[in-house]
Amino acid sequence: MNKVSIIVAGLVVLLVGGAVAATQLSKGSDSDMAGMDDMQASQSSSSDQMDNGEQDLTAQKEVMMDITDFDFEQANIKIKVGTKVTWTNQDTARHNVVTDGDGAEALKSELLAKGERYSYTFTKVGMTQYLCEPHPYMKGMIHVVE
Ligand code: CO
Repeated sequence: MNKVSIIVAGLVVLLVGGAVAATQLSKGSDSDMAGMDDMQASQSSSSDQMDNGEQDLTAQKEVMMDITDFDFEQANIKIKVGTKVTWTNQDTARHNVVTDGDGAEALKSELLAKGERYSYTFTKVGMTQYLCEPHPYMKGMIHVVE
């Protein structure tokens, strides 16, 4: 009887221990899932602000845009008619701002050295895609609304 009791007690300890370990494992994976949900939630809220990648700057009368690391800082923006956009080259390399194909507005800057600027006031509703001629992979889009 004593030996049987000890064996039964030993089995109970093993079973309870195993159940506790299993509970802790499943808790761990639950919290990992919650973390992923949080990440997805924050990603979707930031993409809401961007509105399909287009940054809404219609509250601004003037937009300052840096050209940095071979990239237009705000490459896809929505502005109101009458808004002045100023590009400033922050790179050592020289860049320009030129309308790509048929745009609503004909942008055409000189090659800008570091620190030089180009300003353009948008007066027509429509889309203007532009690029940097020496580096045509550098692209931007201006969407002008009433
Ligand atoms: Co360039």
